[in-house]
Amino acid sequence: MRDYQLRCISCGKSYLEKSDLYWCHDCGPLKGTLEIIYDFNQINISKNFSKKGDITQFEDLLPVKFQTNLDQQVGGTPFIKFNHQFGVRELMIKFDGVSLSGSYKDRASIIAINKALQYGKEAIFCASTGNAASSLAILSAHTALKTYIFVPSSIPSAKLAQLHAAGAEVIAIQGSYDEAFDLSMEIGLKKGWYCRNSAINPYLLEGKKTGAYEIIIQNDYVAPDFCFVGVGDGTIISSICKGFMEFKQLGLIDKIPKVIGVQAEGAATLKKVYDSGKPYEPIFETVSTVADSISVGNPRDVIKACTYMEKINGEFLTVSDDEIIHSIQSLTSETGVFSEPAGAVGYAALQKMKNDGRISHEDTVCLFVTGNGLKDIKSAESMIKRQNFSKEEARKYLEGV
Ligand SMILES: Cc1ncc(COP(=O)(O)O)c(C=O)c1O
Ligand SMILES: [Zn+2]
Repeated sequence: MRDYQLRCISCGKSYLEKSDLYWCHDCGPLKGTLEIIYDFNQINISKNFSKKGDITQFEDLLPVKFQTNLDQQVGGTPFIKFNHQFGVRELMIKFDGVSLSGSYKDRASIIAINKALQYGKEAIFCASTGNAASSLAILSAHTALKTYIFVPSSIPSAKLAQLHAAGAEVIAIQGSYDEAFDLSMEIGLKKGWYCRNSAINPYLLEGKKTGAYEIIIQNDYVAPDFCFVGVGDGTIISSICKGFMEFKQLGLIDKIPKVIGVQAEGAATLKKVYDSGKPYEPIFETVSTVADSISVGNPRDVIKACTYMEKINGEFLTVSDDEIIHSIQSLTSETGVFSEPAGAVGYAALQKMKNDGRISHEDTVCLFVTGNGLKDIKSAESMIKRQNFSKEEARKYLEGV
């Protein structure tokens, strides 16, 4: 664990660590999200991380001391490379869908669980579109922490099944993710449970930045030209920006990739705020998309996401629900990576940028595929061709192939 300070993303005020400190008191929970700041001047990090190593290999760059039995099961996910295919020089896929609970969120949950244990908390809670919830429930199941999960009752059954199988206390409400979020804050903070909500808890981003670290290490310390990632609350994209900025500061890469945040056309609140320019003002919208994990109308990490993306000259793009569904199929059939809708948006956006001529066969591209297709098969159901052959019909059919 490295020493750190907490600093408000909006006013810059510094805070010392406290178990019940989540945001800047002057700026409030939406505008006053906290950043974790390290003094990298005293660090000497060399390029000898393991390509297959788990998240614990980064303990020296994280604000936490690992202590659970599952720490070493997080991170170290597959990195798949295709050369001179898909109209680019190199296509890289970072696939966190095969993480323990099946999504990128494990990188954040493991940090929150370790912090809750460090603070001697008895319970931990989160509100989620599904993946953060199932990740927290799965990774905390073996610990002494009681886990409370607030979700919209409409979340996909596979994610709900993970929650119940893990023995979490599930509060599924009639309403949106944004409503589940507000209810969780009202109750969780009153009860003194540890909060694992996106953007509220500043430590989550630190776990998520390790995905950016890993692609650099797995690509022999060469940064790709472009990186694509799906965006809902904006924590993952902030973390990826921070991961690249830190590796650059540590002298481990020469340049920062062009980061493209991808949203669904029907849920593009963060893009709207970013494109409207400074000063970034949080907005609230009613949203709808087939990609349930990024169906967020009140993005909680809006200020950090916009601030970091501006620092590295990032950009937001939108894709339609049809493009997302089509991408799930293309990504699977062309690369073998079966993604849930929110994880396939990067592939859809890549096609767009190739068609616009903004990405050429000279470029190297990394897609962060953040969730497993088995988590949400409803949107993939349109691809299913159900058959009910008699054995005779099957024989006949196969004679013709
Ligand atoms: C699979 C998947 N991809 C992307 C995201 C977007 O992450 P964020 O809400 O931090 O923007 C989520 C969030 O739930 C997710 O579950
Ligand atoms: Zn502040």
